[in-house]
Amino acid sequence: MVEFASTDKPLAERYKLLIGCVVPRPIAFVATKGSDGVANLAPFSFFNGVSANPLTVAFSVGDRGEVMKDTSRNISEHPEFIVHVVSEPIAEQMNITCGDFGAHVDEFTESGLTALPGTVVDVPRVKEALVAMECRMTHHLRIGEQPPLTSHILGEVLYWHIDDSLLNQRMHVDADVLQAVGRMGGIEYTRTADRLAIVRPVIAPEDERSIPSYQAMLARPLPK
Ligand SMILES: Cc1cc2nc3c(=O)[nH]c(=O)nc-3n(C[C@H](O)[C@H](O)[C@H](O)COP(=O)(O)O)c2cc1C
Repeated sequence: MVEFASTDKPLAERYKLLIGCVVPRPIAFVATKGSDGVANLAPFSFFNGVSANPLTVAFSVGDRGEVMKDTSRNISEHPEFIVHVVSEPIAEQMNITCGDFGAHVDEFTESGLTALPGTVVDVPRVKEALVAMECRMTHHLRIGEQPPLTSHILGEVLYWHIDDSLLNQRMHVDADVLQAVGRMGGIEYTRTADRLAIVRPVIAPEDERSIPSYQAMLARPLPK
């Protein structure tokens, strides 16, 4: 085992360690709009769903040196955003939008993705995405003391757009249709086609350490 304190490593190496070890990461493909009305689209893999009540997602945007990226600046000017899931068919376009475009550039145009108006927020959404979550910003935390700082942004999901092909009547999402892409370290991504199911233990009330009840459950076929 190699052991060291985080502070023994320079920033670039700490970052590489974090993104190489915390894998795979889901990708928020985030649309925002600045006070100048210019739309912005960019991917962020420091991302997750963090609360069901209220339904909340969170993602983090590192500053460029001492300056906020367009996404965090836009959200501080106009506190709404739309998070899209990145499926394999739009992964290349997603990658185009991470280019260091100037604030006046609309990444919808650059990537060739189609902008549709949001329903409850005044931000455009990506037509080609199978899932779009319209969100209102609830928290914008600034992390760190030395530049580059990070904006950790939380938002309540107010409204959903989900492709018909994805859902069954029990609100289960078909992962084979979604084809979500996850981010690994460096420039690598992972597909979500290869999965495993693990049944959770149900502890018998009469014996909180009941391993036999768990073993009996494992012997049963997996639920569909
Ligand atoms: C898959 C992927 C994930 C990314 N995740 C993050 C992230 O979590 N935080 C971040 O600050 N930048 C991340 N980036 C880089 C930003 O997308 C990039 O800096 C982008 O230009 C920001 O755009 P903006 O200035 O329009 O907000 C990621 C890039 C890619 C391709």
